[in-house]
Amino acid sequence: MNKLRIGLPSKGRLAEQAEELFKQAGLSFRRQPRSLFALVGELPIEVTFLRTEDIPVLCAEGAIDMGVTGSDLVAESGSDLVTRMSLGVGKCRLAVCVPEDSHIRAPAELSGCRVATSFPRVTAQYLRRHVSQVHLVPLSGSVEIMVALGVAEAIVDLVETGSTLAANQLRVLDEIGRYETVLIQNRQPRDPEMADRVARRLEGIVIARSYSLLEYNIPRNKLSEAERVTPGFNSPTVSALEDPAWCAVRAMVRRSEVMQVMEQLEEVGASAILEIPISNCRL
Ligand code: PRP
Repeated sequence: MNKLRIGLPSKGRLAEQAEELFKQAGLSFRRQPRSLFALVGELPIEVTFLRTEDIPVLCAEGAIDMGVTGSDLVAESGSDLVTRMSLGVGKCRLAVCVPEDSHIRAPAELSGCRVATSFPRVTAQYLRRHVSQVHLVPLSGSVEIMVALGVAEAIVDLVETGSTLAANQLRVLDEIGRYETVLIQNRQPRDPEMADRVARRLEGIVIARSYSLLEYNIPRNKLSEAERVTPGFNSPTVSALEDPAWCAVRAMVRRSEVMQVMEQLEEVGASAILEIPISNCRL
């Protein structure tokens, strides 16, 4: 059987995040300097290091069976692919931006403007819905300086923290879409079972990263109230305590909500509330 081929970003933050995620999921590989290939230990998987923007089309064309890339790049490629899962990183939005002091207040007012972007396909689709006449300036990068260079009156670019916009005196006029890092797969992977195995392993890590386990004791007569605060991933686990008036509860809680949930549990009457990190899971 042919080895499953997975394409990972060759450089940048996404490359580091993908390597770390694969390592945690037991899909470790050793990358030799300047090499474009690596083998995953103990599993028939070959990793290829590619430009993040090429991963969607190379996956659709069958050069790789799965890949890690941005959903923005998947949308821009227009390729027929399966998005298996979000990887919980790289969240950003694609936005139409104009100078802070621009008179333009609505997308329709972009009529007659030049719009610079490295997302010409998604941008054209968006502009067709809002503007009658517009000139697209397709570029491969440094889009944020194009207004200052006099090449465009507006840009369409990714916004994460907003610091690039602020540094270039630009503001968001409209949001086109929200994107994040995803695991993609083509329609006919070389080894479908191995592809499923990879996806399940990564899913275990991605879910574990965004949840904690909360354990607490609660008087039985307050249990239903507490369960409303911690409904768990499927449902909470309730066990008996020696004191029949009390029980112990375990439930998964989104990490971002843990502090608030602990406070709510205290108010309901819970005690011995513990947050336990989860390193991996199968649900
Ligand atoms: C992206 C994007 C913006 C910037 C937005 O560039 O093109 O320039 O990030 O992030 P911010 O809102 O946090 O400032 P990236 O750093 O990925 O490099 P690129 O210019 O090569 O696309």
